[in-house]
Amino acid sequence: MFLSPAGSSIHARPFVLPFAVLTGKRPLFTRALLFGLILVVIGANAHFASAQKVEISVDVSKTGVKIDRNIFGQFAEHLGHGIYDGIWVGPDSTIPNTRGIRNDVVGALKAIRVPNVRWPGGCFADEYHWRNGIGNPRTITLNPNWGGVTESNAFGTSEFMDFLDQIGAEAYISVNVGSGTPREASEWLEYLTTAQPTTLAKERAANGHPSPYQIGILGIGNESWDCGGNMTPEYYLSQLKIYSRFVRNFNPEQQDKQQMLKIAVGPGGGESRWTDWTEAIMKAYQSHTWSWDINGLSMHSYTVGKWPPSYASVGFGETEYAQILKLTLEMDDLIAKHSAIMDKYDPQKKIALSVDEWGAWYAPLPGSNPGFLVQQNSMRDAILAALNLNIFARHADRVRMANIAQMINVLQSMIITDKEKMVLTPTYYIFKMYAPFQDSSFVPVAFDAGTYTQGDVKLPRLDAIAAKDSAGKLWLALTNVDPNQPAEIEVNLTGLNVRSASGETLTAPKVDSVNSFEAPKTVMPKTVSVKAQGGNLALKLEPKSVTVISVEQ
Ligand code: AHR
Repeated sequence: MFLSPAGSSIHARPFVLPFAVLTGKRPLFTRALLFGLILVVIGANAHFASAQKVEISVDVSKTGVKIDRNIFGQFAEHLGHGIYDGIWVGPDSTIPNTRGIRNDVVGALKAIRVPNVRWPGGCFADEYHWRNGIGNPRTITLNPNWGGVTESNAFGTSEFMDFLDQIGAEAYISVNVGSGTPREASEWLEYLTTAQPTTLAKERAANGHPSPYQIGILGIGNESWDCGGNMTPEYYLSQLKIYSRFVRNFNPEQQDKQQMLKIAVGPGGGESRWTDWTEAIMKAYQSHTWSWDINGLSMHSYTVGKWPPSYASVGFGETEYAQILKLTLEMDDLIAKHSAIMDKYDPQKKIALSVDEWGAWYAPLPGSNPGFLVQQNSMRDAILAALNLNIFARHADRVRMANIAQMINVLQSMIITDKEKMVLTPTYYIFKMYAPFQDSSFVPVAFDAGTYTQGDVKLPRLDAIAAKDSAGKLWLALTNVDPNQPAEIEVNLTGLNVRSASGETLTAPKVDSVNSFEAPKTVMPKTVSVKAQGGNLALKLEPKSVTVISVEQ
């Protein structure tokens, strides 16, 4: 189906001859020869510039599993300016805010329909003591993991829940297993969720929230094999059983329906250390008794390349573009590997694989505090995000949650702030364009991706997913990985009467183009033209672009 030779690395380059060559006084024969030569060159160049042709077949009658909205989750840790300055500026700030929470950030996050936010960490969670973050005055503590700075605890439980309320997202609370106790965690959940007049419920009411909060997701520890306490799988399992049993959600509205999902710590890679971990937890789950249960197994996987992270987030070229995208595609094998283990113990796929930390992790920006994990966000990251979301969608039967790291000012963020300024990153726009895929039904697509080659790196040139939303509308997300060649796409649709189609595309002048405070609109979605004829669609994908289209029938 792929009409051009796969693996072709011929790039379209403008070929310009000096005007004098054409017009100068020369013998007729020389001029004819030159003219002929120019025609040949122009012809060759036109051939090089011609777009790659790809046919995509979509059978809309074959809808598959739900693409859970929770795979578009976010992660916000007390790390650098992720919370302070990023979300929280305090009620007395001159930056427009609602009860201390930035209005500009809330507005931007509402527009991408964030389903859930994982908080307060990360590694921070295993040193977080929730009582430091309620009432007044707040206890000032340290953040030893991330720069050794002081933690004001000004953003605590009430502020987090208020923030979620403002953006319309669900709470994913990570409780402290590493340095906390089951009692501390269970009291936090009682404080949050009980409707009974207990002392903790009265304290919650005194802090401004008489009615119980809803807590959708509970993380039992974070990377307990490493920063969460360097535990063996057996030791962690003993903790997991205790926390799962005693850290209860008491909210009356979450007893039958909307039950809180409990997520166990899972793997952080593909080596035997991690497969052994998955084996141990899943084996224990298979024979678990009534007294404990889990609904998900977390997995963390960053696109790093080398450790410590040394790829630059800006000012890189095509080689680093191709290398990072190649690395990010390893997510697919990693999910497949752990899913296969999970299938052995849970063939009915009751336990979700929750990729609750993922994204690009680059070298800290020069001049920034290395403990704050500050990096820029480029067109490469937009493509990286789309490729990962596509992978999650293709594994939607098992991957029902994912949280990109991290939401604001840290790692592969949606938003970058500096005092009163805010800029939306290319990754933000991918989440915005993909919002219609939340809770849609996966529709299989067939195509020959072809190959994009850069040096010794080879990558599929094209990626595509399709889904049907609850109103029956078809959505397609198409990524052209090749940064030099456009792609001519023909979509053959079966099972749908196409009336019209429209969409948006995200591309940029360069692979490392970013949005900055000075130039915030360098990488922004623009309307793309789609021709709808009979059962087919035709459109052109720009090089290094992500396009999302909807089809009306
Ligand atoms: O996202 C940064 C850190 O990466 C998290 O705190 C930790 O869980 C992971 O190692």
